Amino acid sequence: MITLDLILPDTRYSIHIGHGLLEQVDLLLPHLPIPKVAIVSNETVAPLYLARLRQALEARGVQCLSVTLPDGESHKNWQTLNLIFDALLSGNAERKTTLLALGGGVIGDMTGFAAACYQRGAPFIQIPTTLLAQVDSSVGGKTAINHPLGKNMIGAFYQPKAVIADMDLLATLPDRELSAGLAEVIKYGLLGDAGFLAWLEANMAKLRARDSAALQYAVKRSCEMKAAIVAEDEKENGVRALLNLGHTFGHAIEASLGYGAWLHGEAVAAGMVLAAAASAELGWLSQDAVDRVRRLIEAAGLPTRSPRMPLEQWLAQMAHDKKVEAGTIRFVLLRELGQAVIQPGLETSLLERILLANS
Ligand code: NAD
Ligand code: GLY
Repeated sequence: MITLDLILPDTRYSIHIGHGLLEQVDLLLPHLPIPKVAIVSNETVAPLYLARLRQALEARGVQCLSVTLPDGESHKNWQTLNLIFDALLSGNAERKTTLLALGGGVIGDMTGFAAACYQRGAPFIQIPTTLLAQVDSSVGGKTAINHPLGKNMIGAFYQPKAVIADMDLLATLPDRELSAGLAEVIKYGLLGDAGFLAWLEANMAKLRARDSAALQYAVKRSCEMKAAIVAEDEKENGVRALLNLGHTFGHAIEASLGYGAWLHGEAVAAGMVLAAAASAELGWLSQDAVDRVRRLIEAAGLPTRSPRMPLEQWLAQMAHDKKVEAGTIRFVLLRELGQAVIQPGLETSLLERILLANS
């Protein structure tokens, strides 16, 4: 098992990455203020893993409530969030009851937000079960639900007490979801580590074949990079915005097509191609570099072309981006491969050109 520590001004926590961790409740027990938890999962993940976690906890005297939510990005909303509160209240959960998020990024984001709100703040622990959640969403304390007008628009910064990434749980993940997770892994290489980017190019076939050592290295390197960025800028006043590479375009795709039509990772992948293309228009990237980005994304089994949408629709959706400041959209672009920067505003004509060429 590898353990990374994320140290923040008001808290610190460990990210454990390894095999066979689901039932290692010794990783959980020190974080429970009282021996009572509420496990939040969904109708896909619960049949696979809930009983094992529950039995391991009950064997150590921990009382377990559980709530199983409908599966999917389209359920990341108020109605589903309220099902968590219904279960907590009907199960007499106290403020010191710990919420356990057992699932992908949707479950992690909703459980974290529920924990932030329940009795004004209950502890929670992330047990990510998708590659995307293990490399990104479980770390850093961003929690949210979607609004029909904008992705992740209602939420809170609220840190977990621990993250437990059991690599074994990825065995049941569909290939399409594995690829979606690889989008966020590629993001780290592009935004801040050219060496890791080259490693990804050399190892993409192994990652897609679920080579255990390659996957564990990818999760570790991604979590190291995310933890370092979040430690520097927990509330996204600066460098953390770079983690949104591809997301301004990606969120616009997700919201426009209806949540769940494209997976989050797929939308981010197509968004990263647009970010690379915009960077080339500004003279920062060569055409060869853009092609390199496109080839890696293709090799990961991800889309490189965005869906065709009217320019007005792109602009209207991107106006809801959380990086908008004083009405200006701040894009994350690439100065070079391995170095992302924030670029406030892009000319509409440039946007139109790259959207036409890449959708
Ligand atoms: P997801 O949570 O919808 O999971 C993907 C699918 O895989 C679901 O159908 C799920 O039920 C299933 N699944 C999960 N684990 C499984 C397993 N082990 N075996 C079989 N099936 C399994 O999607 P995701 O890609 O994990 O997360 C995407 C979400 O994460 C988006 O809502 C995005 O906004 C959010 N996100 C948040 C952050 C953050 O910092 N908080 C960062 C990136 C993404
Ligand atoms: N996934 C973006 C962030 O955590 O800041």
